[in-house]
Amino acid sequence: MSRGRLLAIAACMSCSVQGFAQVQEQPSEGRGELLYSTHCRDCHTAEVHWRDKKRATDWNSLKVQVRRWQDNIGLVWEEADIASVARYLNATYYRFPLRTAEGGVPYASGGIGQDERVALHAGGRDHNLKLVFAERGSGAYLADVKVVIEGAQGGKILEATSQGPWFLATLPPGGYRISAESRGERLTRSIAISPGKRSELTYYWP
Ligand code: HEC
Repeated sequence: MSRGRLLAIAACMSCSVQGFAQVQEQPSEGRGELLYSTHCRDCHTAEVHWRDKKRATDWNSLKVQVRRWQDNIGLVWEEADIASVARYLNATYYRFPLRTAEGGVPYASGGIGQDERVALHAGGRDHNLKLVFAERGSGAYLADVKVVIEGAQGGKILEATSQGPWFLATLPPGGYRISAESRGERLTRSIAISPGKRSELTYYWP
């Protein structure tokens, strides 16, 4: 193994530990957690979400299961509530990369913990843009970052919340302004996407 590769692995292991601690502190998915504790938790222990033959095998099937269960017990949850419970379960147990095409721009986000970063990397091969979110100094990874991508001439192309420190997207070649907001502070950078190349931007918050 080359020295460069060894160093890269060492750096990554330390960031995963810090990143995890940081992300755990986020007050994430409060509503989803509340709904789940109120209506669902009594009936199952955590094991149901990790058993071998899990019914939830990706983000979409997880939402299907949440929809099925709230229906089974006679609740009439709106889509937003189903999504927030699914996000809570995903953040707590499943850790599926989130992948949606919104406005024709495919994107995925996540990266909390080593497993999820490996999965995202494997699934993210066709993405040509990677954003990374971290704290300046400590290098701790940040999650729940609001991302807005605009064309160089203005005009919003994509708005999404990154579920973890990595945000991958596929954009047509051209110029873009990309802003990321965390802890109430928005950072904006410009980037040119060239054909056949992958671009990466790292945002650091003080
Ligand atoms: C009456 C008891 C009961 C209640 C109430 C209940 N569940 Fe479940 N849940 C189960 C059982 C048993 C399973 C496993 C068997 C199955 O999937 O049908 C399960 C499975 C699941 C799964 C799939 C796990 C996996 O990955 O295979 C999800 C997701 C889930 N429940 C979410 C919820 C949510 C959200 C609520 C609240 C709206 C809820 N459940 C309420 C008993 C319950």
